[in-house]
Amino acid sequence: MTRIIAVLSAKGGVGKTTTTSNIGAALAEKGKSVIVIDGNVTTPNLSLHLGIPLAPITLHDALKGDAHIRSAIYKHSSGMQVIPASLSVGALKGLNINKLAGALMNLLGAAEIILIDGAAGLGKEATAIMEVSDEMIIVTNPDLPALTDALKAIKMANEIGTKVLGVVVNRVRGHSHEISVSEIRDMLEVPVIAVVPEDKAVPKAIAAKMPVVNYSPRSKASREFKRLAASIAGEAWTEPTKRKNWFDRMLDYLAG
Ligand SMILES: Nc1ncnc2c1ncn2[C@@H]1O[C@H](COP(=O)(O)OP(=O)(O)O)[C@@H](O)[C@H]1O
Ligand SMILES: [Mg+2]
Repeated sequence: MTRIIAVLSAKGGVGKTTTTSNIGAALAEKGKSVIVIDGNVTTPNLSLHLGIPLAPITLHDALKGDAHIRSAIYKHSSGMQVIPASLSVGALKGLNINKLAGALMNLLGAAEIILIDGAAGLGKEATAIMEVSDEMIIVTNPDLPALTDALKAIKMANEIGTKVLGVVVNRVRGHSHEISVSEIRDMLEVPVIAVVPEDKAVPKAIAAKMPVVNYSPRSKASREFKRLAASIAGEAWTEPTKRKNWFDRMLDYLAG
């Protein structure tokens, strides 16, 4: 059976594409067959994170009926398979996101897990992805604007009937002004399934066009993405990385 898991947030720039590409690469490293789809059809950038900028056949071709979706699958060096979206503005002409469900039907059985990197907002581009997905991961940052949007995305998923696996709190610095993990759990009323620290290895990996789990496997962000991938794959559940101890928090405080 193929599981279809969407990665959404409502807010832009919180780390959806980073989370999707890294869960995908970490699952592939575990030997899982995984297809990662760029579902952000208006402003795609998954292929830029992964170094496949000019794919000749894309999700856009499949949605327009010009190509079979399986012919838009690319094998990435990490071992995962990727369906990129077209980077051309012209490719948006005549595109109907409602065709996504039909295209995905043709992918069932092609992998154990399909991950969809979603668009920001709660417009049709994002809700169409919720509608075709069995499960959903919400990405947020530990601040009120991101959490407010995350809450809206969760409410929308509940209305549509998509199961929310939980929330990934990304770019956590451990500063006192950040909203804590327990407050986030109370506010969103879903499990916190990962707490990914702010980590320079992430932008460095994006500049190198690689998932950070491959670029810098021992970095703090990579370890958390790998732990999350293991729990998605059904391996023994472990708690998200613990909050920093008082000594580390004091060092953060002294560092301003
Ligand atoms: N854990 C992290 N540590 C540091 N920078 C991060 C982290 N996660 C994401 N970023 C940075 O945030 C930016 C936006 O991430 P991205 O995954 O593209 O967000 P989205 O897909 O939600 O718009 C990227 O440029 C990336 O470098
Ligand atoms: Mg993105």
